[in-house]
Amino acid sequence: MDLTLRLREATADLHRRIEQLPVAQAMIEGRIRREDYVRLLGQLHHVHSALESELTANKALHGVFRPSMVRLGAIRGDLSVLGAPLPPSPSAETAALICDVRDLSARAPWALLGCLYVVEGSRMGSMHLVKPLSRALGVTREPGCGLDYHLEGMTGRPLAWMKFKAALLAAPLDPLRETQIIDAAVRTMTGLHEIYEAVGRCGGRQSAVHLSGVDEPMMVVLKGEPV
Ligand code: HEM
Repeated sequence: MDLTLRLREATADLHRRIEQLPVAQAMIEGRIRREDYVRLLGQLHHVHSALESELTANKALHGVFRPSMVRLGAIRGDLSVLGAPLPPSPSAETAALICDVRDLSARAPWALLGCLYVVEGSRMGSMHLVKPLSRALGVTREPGCGLDYHLEGMTGRPLAWMKFKAALLAAPLDPLRETQIIDAAVRTMTGLHEIYEAVGRCGGRQSAVHLSGVDEPMMVVLKGEPV
């Protein structure tokens, strides 16, 4: 079985579990509350910020990681449009995942491709979420209206996903690197499951640790909807 199939198999059960979480169900069914969606996006802001900066710094990975995969700007724009221009502090779940991403980057940089597999793969799900999210959030499906995180790169997504997988298979990987990539994908999917679950529990526990390089804790203020 090739690496992409092994990745899919290793994360399939976690994917099913994420889709079944109340917050994911609320997105799929177009009834997520704006404050819950903004909380989730705020946590994803920190995850993307850490992961994208590690991927950018590891030049050896640039045959697979491309500039079009950077989505921090889209998240920032969406947060601003949705009335929460300053991201909230990272929850404990987010802080734990970020620590692991940084640890991987220092110890086994190729493993970051497993993290990238998860966030790039999630863009397949984005294609199904745009419509119900626009309904739930009361925004149009136009660029710059709060849904850029899902909309960016949506045209031609299945082809882009195939190209990503082809680039991954063409990368200079040995069995150890492949195992590290699969472990990192499972860790990332588990971490995101914890983050989604915590958002459903009302924002998650607050992070007790200060993360260097992560935006300072800030208050989320939603237009007309105090959190
Ligand atoms: C919340 C609602 C979600 C829906 C409706 C959804 C839906 C989908 C769909 C339809 C696919 C394409 C499957 C295929 O090609 O056979 C997919 C793939 C994928 N999704 Fe999701 N998804 C969701 C959330 C997520 C999240 C939160 C993550 C990451 C934590 C994620 C990670 C992935 C990955 C990695 C793949 C690629 C699987 C592969 O073909 O290797 N998804 N998703």
